[in-house]
Amino acid sequence: MEHAAIRILGISGSLREKSANSRLLTAVAELLPVEATYETYDGLAELPHFNPDLDGDEQWRSEAVQSWRKLLGSVDAVVICTPEYARGLPGSLKNALDWIVSSGEFVDKPTAAISASPYPEGGAVTLESLTGTLRMMSANIPDERTLPIPGITLKFAADGRLKDEALVSDLQKLADSLVRDVRSREAK
Ligand SMILES: Cc1cc2nc3c(=O)[nH]c(=O)nc-3n(C[C@H](O)[C@H](O)[C@H](O)COP(=O)(O)O)c2cc1C
Repeated sequence: MEHAAIRILGISGSLREKSANSRLLTAVAELLPVEATYETYDGLAELPHFNPDLDGDEQWRSEAVQSWRKLLGSVDAVVICTPEYARGLPGSLKNALDWIVSSGEFVDKPTAAISASPYPEGGAVTLESLTGTLRMMSANIPDERTLPIPGITLKFAADGRLKDEALVSDLQKLADSLVRDVRSREAK
């Protein structure tokens, strides 16, 4: 049976040019089936600071917020990959998520969340916080689609590709789970 194309959005919580988290998203994209199209959201740094006073009335809402919501609403599934900063979510990522609480684009959205860190905890505190925020917004994010990754700097080869087979296998399971959920929604 032929499947309809599915659109998957990757969001990196790091604004750093050589971000390990952004590279991990590229690795996830390469593990998706051919009928999946993958794109990234690169607007985190352009979003205004969340302010409920600016959220109620469309005329006050910025272009950046409107296009963030429109993009998120139009994709079938989301993968977020983020570093941990001072035991918390990077402010720019949390800010982007705060803009979605009232508009609801995460409701029932098949989502995966990954935290990657050079340290042994793998950003687990932040991953739990991110998962809690996404579940508060009713995203579809079962435990099998959350992955803390410790020692990330040792997992890339010199050419920037992932050399850790166990990690590639974990990312494959996460990508498969995401695609499976999108397909099961299609079937309903
Ligand atoms: C300001 C700052 C705070 C950090 N705090 C933590 C932390 O609490 N836990 C942690 O695991 N790593 C922490 N790190 C290290 C990041 O995990 C590491 O820099 C990571 O590679 C950043 O991800 P990126 O390569 O995708 O930019 C911190 C880094 C910075 C710059």
